[in-house]
Amino acid sequence: MCGIVGAVSTRNIVPVLVQGLERLEYRGYDSCGVAVYAQDATPGLKRARSTARVAELAEQVATTHLEGTLGIAHTRWATHGAPVVHNAHPHFSHGTGLDAASKPGRIALVHNGIIENHDELRAALQARGYVFDSQTDTEVIAHLVDSLYDGDLFEAVKSALTHLHGAYAIAVFCKDEPQRLVGARAGSPLILGVGKDGQELFLASDAMALAGVTDQIVYLEEGDLIDMQLGKYWLFDKARKPVSPAQRPVKTVVAHSGAAELGPYRHYMQKEIFEQPRAIADTLEGVEGITPELFDQQMNHQPGANAARVFAQIDSVLILACGTSYYSGCTAKYWLESIAKIPTQVEVASEYRYRDSVPNPNTLVVTITQSGETADTLAALRHAQSLGMHHTLTICNVATSAMVRECSLAYVTRAGVEIGVASTKAFTAQLAGLFLLTLCLAQAKGRLSDAEEQRHMKAMRHLPAALQAVLALEPQVMAWADDFASCENALFLGRGLHYPIALEGALKLKEISYIHAEAYPAGELKHGPLALVTSSMPVVTVAPNDALLEKLKSNMHEVRARGGVLYVLADADTRIESGEGLHVIRMPEHYGELSPMLHVVPLQLLAYHTACARGTDVDKPRNLAKSVTVE
Ligand code: AGP
Repeated sequence: MCGIVGAVSTRNIVPVLVQGLERLEYRGYDSCGVAVYAQDATPGLKRARSTARVAELAEQVATTHLEGTLGIAHTRWATHGAPVVHNAHPHFSHGTGLDAASKPGRIALVHNGIIENHDELRAALQARGYVFDSQTDTEVIAHLVDSLYDGDLFEAVKSALTHLHGAYAIAVFCKDEPQRLVGARAGSPLILGVGKDGQELFLASDAMALAGVTDQIVYLEEGDLIDMQLGKYWLFDKARKPVSPAQRPVKTVVAHSGAAELGPYRHYMQKEIFEQPRAIADTLEGVEGITPELFDQQMNHQPGANAARVFAQIDSVLILACGTSYYSGCTAKYWLESIAKIPTQVEVASEYRYRDSVPNPNTLVVTITQSGETADTLAALRHAQSLGMHHTLTICNVATSAMVRECSLAYVTRAGVEIGVASTKAFTAQLAGLFLLTLCLAQAKGRLSDAEEQRHMKAMRHLPAALQAVLALEPQVMAWADDFASCENALFLGRGLHYPIALEGALKLKEISYIHAEAYPAGELKHGPLALVTSSMPVVTVAPNDALLEKLKSNMHEVRARGGVLYVLADADTRIESGEGLHVIRMPEHYGELSPMLHVVPLQLLAYHTACARGTDVDKPRNLAKSVTVE
């Protein structure tokens, strides 16, 4: 989603800003821009903006010789106003009066988040003569800062923030103070980067934007405000009290560049699907046995938040997540209830945060998030905490994220940076973390014998090899994808533990191939969706050889009897053979409880190859973003 990079330096900073935007591209965006204080023959605010890719912005910058030592840049994912150039950030203020629009700009600003009271602020500013160039909520902040500016940018921003309702991370500068950059965050992440020479300072929404530029990072906390000048900065907390360096220490953060090598792959998504054996091996590395300490590992371990004590105390689990992460939570519910016998509720974070619920202080609140930045999941966590539920744990792929910082306990998966918008390796890594959590809770409740622990550990150690064998099915899945490429609808069926995998398969297909796909627990077929089944509706069935297989076979007969064409993922030992209207791919083994982690892989490949056949932008599907940092 939206991304911010800003810098105050002594060298031309534009190449660094543009490079930062390139590193943020993976988050998804529909326009981008960069602004500087130019000290050329006509000094002042100058900018370049584009609704194409950052590469096009880089060309514009080179052609127009945009240069400056102070600047800000942004990738925008449209919320208020269409993705057109005049809505792209940075936004400039330009004084008041009839000729306002032609007056040179004074304030330059970029913003992530949503200003909820932008309509009333806009009306008040318009009444004072401010003229707006865009439909964005962001532009009101630029004019608001301008209206409060009296020679001190920091004071103007500080005062402007008191008028804003909503979520924001901002970076702002003023042409009258060409060595000063001010930033603030509330509800959206923002970091400070300290350059190698100690002089150059950066602001960014994500440490990855600064990969290769600096690894010296300070994480701003909720409500923080920062005043930056060459080689020095001052931080203030939400009460506007000065913050000492000890309170926000500089951390060395190894952020890998988003522009990772594609190697032999056509897309990052394909690469990430094939990285799953390694992602799972890395995620499970060092796990010698089941012990609650696995969940104590995290950056700012909260005093008293000891997993052993928490696991003994809790009597239920509440999982909060969105999208693919929600489906990993739905899978974990089956494990938690069947193996650990702990009542588990899974909720879509954006629903939970706004509904009345009955809090239980002995619940373990588990958030699941690849990015650790998802606004709805963070808000749901805070909502649960506000209801008195303080046992919190996250399964997250980013160790430095807001989610890891805000939860007491964490299991940081090691899937590595995921660039494709469609989550693949992060999902299977989440499942690995959730299976470990299940075993730890089972152990804490006295429901895991040593023999069972050994059996599960052996199965987990086998996962990388098992995944590798499933990936070898790719040519067979490609043959299915040829059939799917010309369809506009598809149905996915699963039962029990594999129903969430059917949901995930359908989500993958719709998000990157734009084929309308639905998933149902197979037993529900005759309660409605069977009406959709015709010969032009492919029906994907996840059919492992488990206790529900015979029931699933009956559901498959119901589909065949209506002329529906079945695409079945069967286990090695399942007696289902290919035939008329029935295409079978046989999984290499039967995987027991860990089966969802293997069965999802052919579904990821099916979505990927179908999307390729349809010629969509696989890694950056339309309208979607990698990190959903607004609600
Ligand atoms: C998955 O393919 C999606 N793009 C999306 O559903 C994603 O899983 C969701 O936005 C949650 O993201 P998170 O894991 O970073 O919180």
